Amino acid sequence: MKSIAGVGLADVVSAYSGPQTEFMQLLFGQQLHIGGMKASLDLAERAGIKSGLIGVDLCCCIGAGMRWLVRSREVASMTGVDATEAVVEHGRRLTREEGLEDRVRFIVADACHSGLPSDSADFVWSEDAWCYVPDKPKLIAEAARIVRKGGVIAFTDWVEGPARLSDAEAQRFLGMMTFANVEDIAGYVRILSDSGCEVRVAEDTGRFASHFELYLNMIEMQLGYDVLRTVAFRTDLMETLVEGFSFLGEMARAGKIAQARFVARRM
Ligand SMILES: C[S@@+](CC[C@H](N)C(=O)[O-])C[C@H]1O[C@@H](n2cnc3c(N)ncnc32)[C@H](O)[C@@H]1O
Repeated sequence: MKSIAGVGLADVVSAYSGPQTEFMQLLFGQQLHIGGMKASLDLAERAGIKSGLIGVDLCCCIGAGMRWLVRSREVASMTGVDATEAVVEHGRRLTREEGLEDRVRFIVADACHSGLPSDSADFVWSEDAWCYVPDKPKLIAEAARIVRKGGVIAFTDWVEGPARLSDAEAQRFLGMMTFANVEDIAGYVRILSDSGCEVRVAEDTGRFASHFELYLNMIEMQLGYDVLRTVAFRTDLMETLVEGFSFLGEMARAGKIAQARFVARRM
């Protein structure tokens, strides 16, 4: 597994407490993951998420995924865990505005130590977020502790692809993303199995490269001014962002990074 030193939860919280979140929401919308609602639907279908279930979203950000799950899949209730107070406050406000506060609640905590009761959820959910958590075995052990026997862990995440990042590419990728490390599909399968789960889905969604082309087109063709606004009108910062997105697109096209989807059942 490729990793870098000196990146931890405090750096991630600091990044999500600043203008990065506004920039990401401009391009991604409320669902801060590749593929938006379509990606959520694909994950929910494969995980068998249906009416009446109780779920937990580990690293929920502003909770758009949870609001989508209670509306579109008629999930009974969702509890979201996120370490960044600022995004949780924003998420609570949006949830109240949508009148969903009885069914969607938030906790500010490290997802590796959520404090949620054992066997308390039918499913644990996450979208494009566990890449930020350095200790993935601990995180997945926590997910497996929270979900009941027979329940499901369903998530998407950014992973290293089969073509492998060079050491220099990995340093750049991990540094710009504030990831301490990056797992691959086989690594996640191993961790899930070691946590007592039967892995049912472990696959590349095939979305990464096309979506980064879309985001670059959005910046180039429509949202230039709005992006500039999120970086306090610093053209140098905007250039850095565009170069970073181009690099991510290039790595995805080369099969060196990908978005992967996992569904596992706790035995
Ligand atoms: C890309 S966003 C998640 C997007 C969200 N799943 C969605 O689809 O809209 C990543 C989130 O992970 C949170 N996060 C990162 N590390 C965490 C940790 N160890 N515990 C809890 N939250 C964490 C960040 O605060 C941030 O809100």
